[in-house]
Formats: sequence, C-alpha cells, structure tokens
Amino acid sequence: MIVLGIETTCDETAAAVVQRSDEGRGKILSNIVLSQTSEHAAFGGVVPEIAARAHVEALDHVIAKAMSDAGLGFADIDGVAAASGPGLIGGVIVGLTTAKAIALVSEKPLIAVNHLEAHALTARLTDGTPFPYCLFLASGGHTQIVAVRGIGDYTRLGTTLDDAIGEAFDKTAKLLGLGYPGGPQVEKEAEGGDATRFTLPRPMQGRPDAMFSLSGLKTALRLEAEKIAPLTDQDVKDLCASFQQAVVDVVADRLRTGLRMFREKFGTPTSLVAAGGVAANQALRKVLHRLALEAGTVLVAPPPALCTDNGAMIAWAGAERLALGLVDTLETPPRARWPLQDVKPHAVPPPAILPRRD
Ligand code: KG4
Ligand code: ZN
Repeated sequence: MIVLGIETTCDETAAAVVQRSDEGRGKILSNIVLSQTSEHAAFGGVVPEIAARAHVEALDHVIAKAMSDAGLGFADIDGVAAASGPGLIGGVIVGLTTAKAIALVSEKPLIAVNHLEAHALTARLTDGTPFPYCLFLASGGHTQIVAVRGIGDYTRLGTTLDDAIGEAFDKTAKLLGLGYPGGPQVEKEAEGGDATRFTLPRPMQGRPDAMFSLSGLKTALRLEAEKIAPLTDQDVKDLCASFQQAVVDVVADRLRTGLRMFREKFGTPTSLVAAGGVAANQALRKVLHRLALEAGTVLVAPPPALCTDNGAMIAWAGAERLALGLVDTLETPPRARWPLQDVKPHAVPPPAILPRRD
C-alpha cells in the first residue's frame, strides 16, 4: 500500500510517499520538507498569513518532487492523505484542498489525517512499535501525554494549561535575542551555561495529575534577565541552561505521573514514545530514557527529522487508516481545532468517496 502524504498545518510545506507492507512495516520512498523558517524569522514566530501564502506557492513543487523522488505517478499510489488539522487554518485549507483535487482527478481515496495522530503513529513507521504505548508529544503548539491503544483510540492523560513546551523555548529565545525557532538555539547556548545560577520555579511539580503549566516559568526567566540586564554572552548561556534544566525537571515530574496513570489504567506500555520538535532536545531525551527505564519500558525516539513536522508521518498515518478501510469523503472540512481524543476510527464505505461529475 503506497500513500502520498501532505503536511501544511504550520510553517513546513511537506510531502512524502510512504509504503506500508501487509505485515505493517513502513518504508519511506520520498520525504520532502520545505521549511519557511527564514520567512518568519524576522517576526520571532509563525505569521499565519505569510505561512498560508508560502504553502500556496510551494506545495505543487514539493508534491512533484516527492512523487519524482519516489519514481511514481499518481496512478501508482493507493491513497492521498492530508493533515486536515489541527493547525493554522489557511495552511490546512491549502493542503487539504490540494489532496482533494489529486484524489478526485486520480480517483484515489482521500484520508483526512489528524496532525497529532500522525505524530503519535510515527514510532510505528520508524520502529514498528506495538500498541499500547505512552506518547509524549512536545512541539511548538502541543504538550500532551497520551495513551495510544490503537488507531483512533487515544486517551489524553495530560496537557498544558497555557504555553506549549516548544512555545516556551521559542519565547525564551526571543526574550534573549536568539533566533527562531528558539528550541535549538536555547539548547546550544545551554551547553556552555551554568544551570544552577538562576533559581527558576518548577510549575505543577508534585501535583497528582499530569498537567503542565509553562507560562510562569517564562515570566520568572524574564524577571531574572531584567534584574541583571544588560546581558553578557555568559548571562545568556546561564539563563538558557537554567531554563532548560527547569523544563527537564518539570517534564520528568509530570511524565512520571503520566506513566503511573497509564500503568494504573492500561497496564505497562510497550514503550514511551517521544514525538514533536522538542523531542530533538538531547537533555530532554536523556531524561525520557531514564523515565522509560524507571517505568519498566523502553524509550522510542524517532530520528529528529521525523519528530519535527514532515509529510512522511502524514502519509504513514494515512496508510495505517487506509489499511483498516478508514477513508474520508471529499466533504471533509479543514479544522483549526481537532483534539486527538476526538479522532475516531470511523469507516466510510468506499463507493461514497468519489463523487464523479459527468
Ligand atoms: O513539531 P514541530 O516541528 O512543529 C510544531 O510545532 O508542530 O516543533 C517545533 C517546536 C519549536 O517550538 C521549536 O523551538 C522546538 O520544537 N524545538 C526544540 C528543539 N528543536 C525544536 N525545542 C527544544 N530543543 C530543541 N533542540
Ligand atoms: Zn507538529
């Protein structure tokens, strides 16, 4: 089964072709990611209108390159998957409409993929991870601990009350005059810094649920920075190191609780799966590894290029759904908001999917 996947929910224009064997093994035939980072850098964050316009301009070429890298034409694929939300609505409309056009013209089924579900299922593409597993998804827009028990079977154990973890990294970077996206910059600065120099809070630590709150941490960092301004290079390094250590401590505490909740409800997970751009952070990966061992399981962390937004994860989620006969109609709407636990394995009978015009 071969599926084309399209991702346009944020600031990456991406398309990929992925193959799924009958045994459920995945193979990436092509994977093109065009980042718009430089177009948003001046603003210190993603500007929705700029993103939507850039997707319109780039998507056709990105899809053409993904198809040619895979050495395939639309006639050779079994389905077209598009991230249909959640995300910036302008970009989602561009990707989903393009997928619908390809599906209609080439008479292939459309699979409307939830972007979070795609992050959640990536470990099955890279490592063949069996259900049930505990997902820790941390990106610029999302912070979630999720019990993944099957396709369309997701139970959220924890999330953030305010900022996402990646967002906290990005805002910290912006405050300290570092570039965008902030995560990698903060991590780089933190390497040469003293993580004990500034006393920052560990919000929500010790609470019996697995909820996060990051906005207080960001404010505390700003106050510390203001106290010693103007900042030297070493100050910036120390602030980054202190901030990163606080995030690592918070994640350790919240995720330990999340894993305990998982065990109580569903038994021991086959693995702890890391996903989202923040999972590229090495300090965080180290603590995730330790937490997994503590919980009697293993850490599965896909390579960073598949942790950040990409088309392969959309194509793979599409292939997993298609293998179960889960396809969508051309009436499927783009969604700015689409919580993961609302994703259901709803089957649509195949004859209904391709209304043809005479
Ligand atoms: O998953 P992703 O590519 O896009 C979405 O937000 O959906 O994640 C991007 C986020 C950004 O906030 C970025 O700063 C963060 O992931 N990030 C990192 C690192 N690399 C990317 N955060 C911390 N450390 C990193 N090395
Ligand atoms: Zn994402």
